[in-house]
Amino acid sequence: MKVKVFTFGALLAFLSISLFSQAPATRIERGPEMHLEPVERGGGRPFMEVLNERQTTRQFSERELEPRLLSGLLWAANGINREAEGKRTAPSARDAREIDVYMLTPHGIYLYVSEGHRTRLIKPGDYRKEALARAEFALQAPVVLVYVANSKKLEKFDASTRDFYAAVDCGFVSQNVYLYCASEHLSTVVLGGINKEMLAKVLGLVNDKVLLAQPVGYRD
Ligand SMILES: Cc1cc2nc3c(=O)[nH]c(=O)nc-3n(C[C@H](O)[C@H](O)[C@H](O)COP(=O)(O)O)c2cc1C
Repeated sequence: MKVKVFTFGALLAFLSISLFSQAPATRIERGPEMHLEPVERGGGRPFMEVLNERQTTRQFSERELEPRLLSGLLWAANGINREAEGKRTAPSARDAREIDVYMLTPHGIYLYVSEGHRTRLIKPGDYRKEALARAEFALQAPVVLVYVANSKKLEKFDASTRDFYAAVDCGFVSQNVYLYCASEHLSTVVLGGINKEMLAKVLGLVNDKVLLAQPVGYRD
């Protein structure tokens, strides 16, 4: 019996080592849910330097972002910075937290789940080209963030103010990403001219609205 248990355990250990050791450390791993690396919350460059370098850049290398940067980027965009209350790096009207951050990559579309700092695979496949048809300069970017207003979380506002708050809150998320990119010498541009209808369809959105996209990548 003991031998059997040992053999089964050894087999499990072997399978997990051979499965996980195949994934190169610098690639975005595929799968239904992926925990991101812990965020280096004390890192980055001095704030005034970051502001001094905040800019739009339209030149992207196709190199995938290293896991440290992907983790920092998503947390900067809309991660939780006060765990006890679940509050975010970006402010939102009446703490609605209604901006969902999706991420288009060469492998698939992921949703950033702030709780637990992870991503969820929404759909496999590369949709970057279709989504950014009018922004040829950004097609190489390895990560394209897409900001979506979650209609359910906007229900507490009256209809006349929903779009206004969603747009304002989306701006904060985008600016966080601009500042993170400035701090890490990454390239980024926020884009209004994107294929919103196509994205809504691919993401399976019914009432939620696609607002803006923001490609991110190395400059060279
Ligand atoms: C809401 C919004 C939508 C934008 N849409 C586009 C776009 O569709 N295409 C593009 O190339 N730049 C777009 N931009 C980037 C602006 O052109 C850019 O921020 C502006 O030229 C100022 O440059 P800076 O960001 O380097 O200060 C957009 C910016 C904002 C704030």
